[in-house]
Amino acid sequence: MSTLTLTLLSTIICCSLTEQPSNVSSPNIIIMLMDDMGWGDLGVLGQPSKETPNLDTMAAQGMLLPNFYTANPLCSPSRAALLTGRLPVRNGFYTTNAHARNAYTPQEIVGGISKEEILLPQMLKKKGYVSKIVGKWHLGHRSQYLPLENGFDEWFGSPNCHFGPYNNSITPNIPVYNNSEMIGRYYEDFKIDRKTGESNLTQIYLEEGLDFILRQTKARRPFFLYWAADATHAPVYASERFLGKSQRGRYGDAVMELDYSVGQILSLLRTLGIENNTFVFFTSDNGAALVSAPYEGGSNGPFLCGKETTFEGGMREPAIAWWPGHIKEGTGINFCPGQEVPGVTTHIQKEHTLQPIIFHLGRDPGEKFPIRSVEYQDVLSRISPVVEEHVKNLVPGVPQLNMCDLAVMNWAPAGCEKLGKCLKGPVSDPWKCEWPH
Ligand SMILES: *[C@@H]1O[C@H](CO)[C@@H](O)[C@H](O)[C@H]1NC(C)=O
Ligand SMILES: *[C@@H]1O[C@H](CO)[C@@H](O)[C@H](O)[C@H]1NC(C)=O
Ligand SMILES: *[C@@H]1O[C@H](CO)[C@@H](O)[C@H](O)[C@H]1NC(C)=O
Ligand SMILES: *[C@@H]1O[C@H](CO)[C@@H](O)[C@H](O)[C@H]1NC(C)=O
Ligand SMILES: *[C@@H]1O[C@H](CO)[C@@H](O)[C@H](O)[C@H]1NC(C)=O
Repeated sequence: MSTLTLTLLSTIICCSLTEQPSNVSSPNIIIMLMDDMGWGDLGVLGQPSKETPNLDTMAAQGMLLPNFYTANPLCSPSRAALLTGRLPVRNGFYTTNAHARNAYTPQEIVGGISKEEILLPQMLKKKGYVSKIVGKWHLGHRSQYLPLENGFDEWFGSPNCHFGPYNNSITPNIPVYNNSEMIGRYYEDFKIDRKTGESNLTQIYLEEGLDFILRQTKARRPFFLYWAADATHAPVYASERFLGKSQRGRYGDAVMELDYSVGQILSLLRTLGIENNTFVFFTSDNGAALVSAPYEGGSNGPFLCGKETTFEGGMREPAIAWWPGHIKEGTGINFCPGQEVPGVTTHIQKEHTLQPIIFHLGRDPGEKFPIRSVEYQDVLSRISPVVEEHVKNLVPGVPQLNMCDLAVMNWAPAGCEKLGKCLKGPVSDPWKCEWPH
């Protein structure tokens, strides 16, 4: 072996990031949260066009959770529950205005995440973690509710959905933040072409995620990356490279770009040699939005309904856990033990975990038929006491989604002065929000 090779080799061994001792007490954590992506959008869960090779591989290398549920079938309460570990009725992401309890944080909402809630990044900070959110926040857009006020160290993204474009006189366009200051607005500075669906946002979010992983790894700090890309929420978008590539139309293009991005992130973890020390979890905030289908909405597979409903299609999410060396490869996807027909064998819809069920997965996996039989009574007799106990001990949070006011919209977010983009809003005139959901 030549001296040069030896030197090179020892340089690699001595200085490579793979040398970082795997700290099992504080593994890196990445949560990839999709927006309105449905259970049926992944090849591994039966999407016939099979356009998610990276997610399918991720599932094969990790654990697929086919019966994974969100806490609520709408963006904001689902995200609040994910980050606090508490049901929306406890963390305040609900409304008492009408019988409908599904609500979210549009621009005119007055409320947001309560200071009393403890968010995941706040807990992780005590363990020395650095946390970043990339993408959509949706837990309130007024200054006190923003990510950096609630445990995150870094943020690139937006407080609201990428609706618009607005003409800024009645409704302002949505700001994009870099940490605590806006650096532009959707449509104006961060283009989304409503006609063609072209936008580079997923690429920008990917770069932000990769850059964060790289920086924290170099600094040898444990990190939490909350990667909340929103390309599959209408208006769906993709960059030029992916537009027109899917058999499923523009929605499929967005899925393909997100799948590609997941592949890039996992690949970087391997390149850095930190894959065995990084727990990655992929899921979606709620079921596919059938109101946006077929062109801008996804698939909930065999399940009934979608977003905004508590039927299976609204609550059951695609979910994959990935952590090489810790989660056994292929856990949960031996759908057809003893036989494997690529692209054909799939899992039977059966409850494997012996948890109580309120509909018979074996008989009606899609929850599409009103089966009334004795087993429901049997299951309910076991569930009812649990529900009673829960109601008895429930301490509801202060409802955050009751009041609306045009004056609180994104007229003049921090940073607008530097950009010359401050707008003047109307005087405050709050009203009780109305929720159709
Ligand atoms: C692992 O992380 C914990 C918490 O940050 C820290 O106290 C401990 O020193 C770390 N161990 C190693 C070997 O880096
Ligand atoms: C913005 O849109 C509203 C509603 O369409 C309209 O009344 C208003 O004149 C528009 N303002 C500008 C500056 O174009
Ligand atoms: C965001 O802010 C950080 C430091 O505050 C800076 O290093 C980075 O370049 C900024 N990113 C963008 C896209 O403006
Ligand atoms: C996306 O980025 C490419 C390459 O920089 C650029 O040519 C294109 O105009 C951008 N598209 C949008 C919608 O911003
Ligand atoms: C990760 O774990 C796997 C299985 O335990 C092992 O084969 C591989 O070498 C490990 N990779 C690193 C970079 O430590």
